[in-house]
Amino acid sequence: MKKIIITIDGYSSCGKSTLAKQLASRLNYLYIDSGAMYRAITLYFIQQHMDWNDPAQVRDALGNIRLEFIHNQISGQSDMYLNDENVEQMIREMLVAEKVSEVAAVREVREFAVAQQQKMGAGRGIVMDGRDIGTVVFPHAELKIFMTADPAIRVERRFKELYQKNKNITLHEVKENLELRDYIDANREVSPLRKADDAIVLDNSQLTMQEQLELVMQWVEDAIMAH
Ligand code: DC
Repeated sequence: MKKIIITIDGYSSCGKSTLAKQLASRLNYLYIDSGAMYRAITLYFIQQHMDWNDPAQVRDALGNIRLEFIHNQISGQSDMYLNDENVEQMIREMLVAEKVSEVAAVREVREFAVAQQQKMGAGRGIVMDGRDIGTVVFPHAELKIFMTADPAIRVERRFKELYQKNKNITLHEVKENLELRDYIDANREVSPLRKADDAIVLDNSQLTMQEQLELVMQWVEDAIMAH
């Protein structure tokens, strides 16, 4: 069967990565978490105590960053590696979440990440999620999905996820971080989060994961038939 590119964009914590992983597994496609790349770059900048508003520092630092997704035999998922170190856990922490939208707004950072994402998708048969995948990274993707969900539901989902790992986290902290990230992601100058004109909107506030998957699998079949 013909392989396509599926892009999933949307606000933070809409369940993009959950859907992307399910689709990749059903279709035997590669899943690429573009947000993990921005998170790993952010982690590197924090570790190096860098000023990411200084383009010269950013360019130098990017020259020292190597990003790779490596399959984890135990979890069955891909882990993010930064210069040969598995940073999958570290990039999900609040320290990174608090800064990642600022770093992802830097032009040089986006050019660096987008070039790698385009290379990864060259062979098709991929599902990539993020903020600008359908608009900038793969404007010619065969299926583009733009996900949304009620903000209160998103906060609760993210809180549950983070609370399992860190019992000190508060609902208020999670809400503030999501609101701020959504604001920066949607209002930055370079590649802001927006729906591609040809993307299908998926509001999953009232859908179970199973209902959502069946609905999207239908869209996938339609997209494969149409191309
Ligand atoms: O999907 P995520 O929450 O892991 O993404 C982390 C941050 O990275 C998010 O706040 C915005 C940024 N990002 C981006 O600007 N473009 C992408 N394609 C993916 C993520």
